[in-house]
Amino acid sequence: MSVAVLISGRGSNLHALLDAGLPITTVISSEAEAKGRETAAARGVATWLVEHRRFSSREEFDAALAGEIDRVAPRLIVLAGFMRVLTPGFVARYKEKLLNIHPSLLPAFPGLRTHERVLAAGAKVHGCSVHFVTAELDRGPIVIQAAVPVRSEDTAETLAARVLRQEHVIYPRAVRWFLEDRLVIEGNRVRVKGNDAQLVFAVD
Ligand code: GRF
Repeated sequence: MSVAVLISGRGSNLHALLDAGLPITTVISSEAEAKGRETAAARGVATWLVEHRRFSSREEFDAALAGEIDRVAPRLIVLAGFMRVLTPGFVARYKEKLLNIHPSLLPAFPGLRTHERVLAAGAKVHGCSVHFVTAELDRGPIVIQAAVPVRSEDTAETLAARVLRQEHVIYPRAVRWFLEDRLVIEGNRVRVKGNDAQLVFAVD
């Protein structure tokens, strides 16, 4: 039973997944400078670099990525701050085996710069979502969400930090559920066998 984690940068979610003792056997980075590579190496996890810049098309990049993944044949592939949009072919190949974390309460605020956009919209609640990846960006069946308040004094940085703390709570939980075979996808909805809460409210 193994999990492959795909990263592009800081790697704090990878850190949280490792701290949770999940069976991460491979980390693949699309960026040479990704700090998460050091985190993985320090824990003795095999890390691979598949630099997107070296490929002339998304298809070629995704084929190289799939090559690395298939060598270890992981049970689950976890996107943790992986900043590349995957091709429909790649997504189909790993159907229902690909999880992502997104820093908003999906389906609100898909895409980038969510914290700035939440503040600009005047929303009073924000959060993060773990979802299965489908061909449509930041859509796909939602496994678990955490909601946090937006405070009047917030900046994008303070809000991002509040959300990130919850990312580190819900991502390990979702991965564990998957590995325990407790996630049931029914259309666009995900149920957890045993009825564990799929929503976390956090005020800190
Ligand atoms: C997180 O906010 C995650 O939701 C988003 O990218 C960021 C990655 O952070 N997809 P890190 O690299 O895990 O620290």
